Amino acid sequence: MGKVKTAIPGLDELIEGGYVENDVVLVTGGPGAGKTTFGIQYLVGGVMDYNEPGVLVVMDETPARMIRDSWRFGWDIEKLVSQNKMKIIYANPFKYTKIAKSLEDKPMSVIAANKNVGEILMQIQIEVAAIKAKRVFVDSITSLKLSAEPVEARNIVSEFIKNLEYLDCTTIMTSEIQGRQAFSVEEYLSSGVVRLHVFRVGGSRIRAIEILKMRGVKHDDTLHPYEIKEKGIIVHPTEVVMNDEISLFETRDAK
Ligand SMILES: Nc1ncnc2c1ncn2[C@@H]1O[C@H](COP(=O)(O)OP(=O)(O)O)[C@@H](O)[C@H]1O
Ligand SMILES: [Mg+2]
Repeated sequence: MGKVKTAIPGLDELIEGGYVENDVVLVTGGPGAGKTTFGIQYLVGGVMDYNEPGVLVVMDETPARMIRDSWRFGWDIEKLVSQNKMKIIYANPFKYTKIAKSLEDKPMSVIAANKNVGEILMQIQIEVAAIKAKRVFVDSITSLKLSAEPVEARNIVSEFIKNLEYLDCTTIMTSEIQGRQAFSVEEYLSSGVVRLHVFRVGGSRIRAIEILKMRGVKHDDTLHPYEIKEKGIIVHPTEVVMNDEISLFETRDAK
C-alpha cells in the first residue's frame, strides 16, 4: 500500500506514515480552523519536498485570495504554476464576472470551470493529465451542496467523491462545519476524515486535530494539538488534548 506524505510536520506519525495512495481524504472544521492552509500545504509541500505536481480546485474563495494568503506562509503558488508544477481550476460560477477581472489583474493561468459537477470533474481530469499531478486539493465541497435540495446534494457529493477516487491522485478536500452537526454525507463517503477542532478554554484558543477515520490505517484516536505558524501547520503528535474537559467549549467560529 503506497503512502503519500501529508507535508504537515507531525501528522504522518499519526497515520502510519501518510495518506493511503489514491484515497480521498476530507478535512472538516469551522471557519478559521486552518482547512485551506492544510490543503495548500499539502500541494505546495508535495511539489517542493516530494516533486509531486498538484491541482488546486477553488470553489469558495478566489484564486487571487488564496495565492495572496499563501504568500504569508512563504508559499509561491504563482511560481509553481509557471513551472507547470501546479494548476488552478476556479469553479465558482457565482463569481464568474470576477474571474475575468482577476485574470486581467494577474495574467496567470487559471482555468475557469462551471459549477456543474461533470464539468468540474472533467476539467480536473484534464489538468491532472497535463502536469501528471499526484495530488489534488478541492476547497471546499460545501458550496456544491448549497444550491441543491438535500437528496440532490447527496447525489452530487457522492458523484463527485466517487469520480475523484478514479483519478490516479491522492485528494484532499475540505468541508465546513457550523457548530454541532450530525455526520455529513462527505464524511461517510470519504476514505479518511480529519477534523480540525478549535476550542476556547478561558481566554485562550486551543487547536486540536483528530483523525476520525482513515480506512486501512491503524490511526491514532486521541486529539493532538496543532498550531498555525509562520511556515504553516504543525501537529504535535506526542502531546494530547483532553477532549472531555474542553468539548463543551468548542467554538462555532474560530475568528
Ligand atoms: N502566519 C500565520 N500565523 C498564525 N496563524 C495564521 C497565520 N496566517 C493565518 N493564520 C490563521 O489561520 C487561520 C486561517 O486558516 P484557513 O486555512 O484560512 O482556515 P479555514 O480554511 O478553515 O477557514 C486563521 O485563524 C488565521 O488566524
Ligand atoms: Mg478556507
